[in-house]
Amino acid sequence: MHVWAIANQKGGVGKTTTTLALGRLLAARGQRVLLLDLDPHASLTRAFGVPGEPQPEGVVDLFSAPPATLAALLRPSPVDGLDFVCAQTALATLERRSATQPGLGLALAQALERHRGVHDHVLLDCPPTLGLLMVNALAAADRLVVPTQCEPLALHGLAGMCRTAAMVERSRQRPLPVAVLPTLYDRRTRAGRETLARLREDYADRAWDEAVPVDTQLANADVLARQVFSGEPPGRAMGAYARALDWLLGADRPMERAA
Ligand SMILES: Nc1ncnc2c1ncn2[C@@H]1O[C@H](COP(=O)(O)OP(=O)(O)O)[C@@H](O)[C@H]1O
Ligand SMILES: [Mg+2]
Repeated sequence: MHVWAIANQKGGVGKTTTTLALGRLLAARGQRVLLLDLDPHASLTRAFGVPGEPQPEGVVDLFSAPPATLAALLRPSPVDGLDFVCAQTALATLERRSATQPGLGLALAQALERHRGVHDHVLLDCPPTLGLLMVNALAAADRLVVPTQCEPLALHGLAGMCRTAAMVERSRQRPLPVAVLPTLYDRRTRAGRETLARLREDYADRAWDEAVPVDTQLANADVLARQVFSGEPPGRAMGAYARALDWLLGADRPMERAA
């Protein structure tokens, strides 16, 4: 089972879009895929058509005593082989509880440990804050995928994520390789071209050497949902995600051999 955390401390960079696109593409390749929505904003949950009220069962129940199992929480999607677990708004209050309840940082890792053998790939759609949920995701992940918007300010956020990954590696004494996925690339703008060039230069060993383009169709979340769930022909961005997935899977292979 491969666990990828899709994370960036910045919002609006394409984390949820990336999670959905990679999940859909993996399932189309015959993999059993589980997507977890760790963001209290619950965009991924909404993309699957689950409303916020009444609060669905979901990720917050992994933190109760005794914790729910992933098997009990997951829901099938309209796509064969693609399951998901909902986020709830109650996730936002979890951070406060963590101060009085030590040990919550490994709840997700423990739930996934008990879930081995059911899914081939687990993708964690992270919130844009470095709190308890992100810490849980990074502790559980084999790989950190950082969607990075092709604009100059994004480089700070990326550097921050790489520092966080290095800290996690030191504390758990297991590698957490970072894969940088340039997103929302507009080749007509100078800022876009320059940021992509910088990414390639500064992160040569861990950045995908292409970028997911801005796809005006995708700015409409309904279109993405149709491409993901209803077999609507993939647009430019989805085509790019298919190549990004090839790159990510290729990058995992040396790790598997070493394991
Ligand atoms: N490649 C793309 N082209 C155009 N719009 C995109 C693309 N990727 C994401 N978006 C849009 O940008 C917004 C933010 O994307 P989202 O995946 O929700 O980011 P995050 O999860 O990081 O907050 C959404 O409205 C989404 O539809
Ligand atoms: Mg999101």
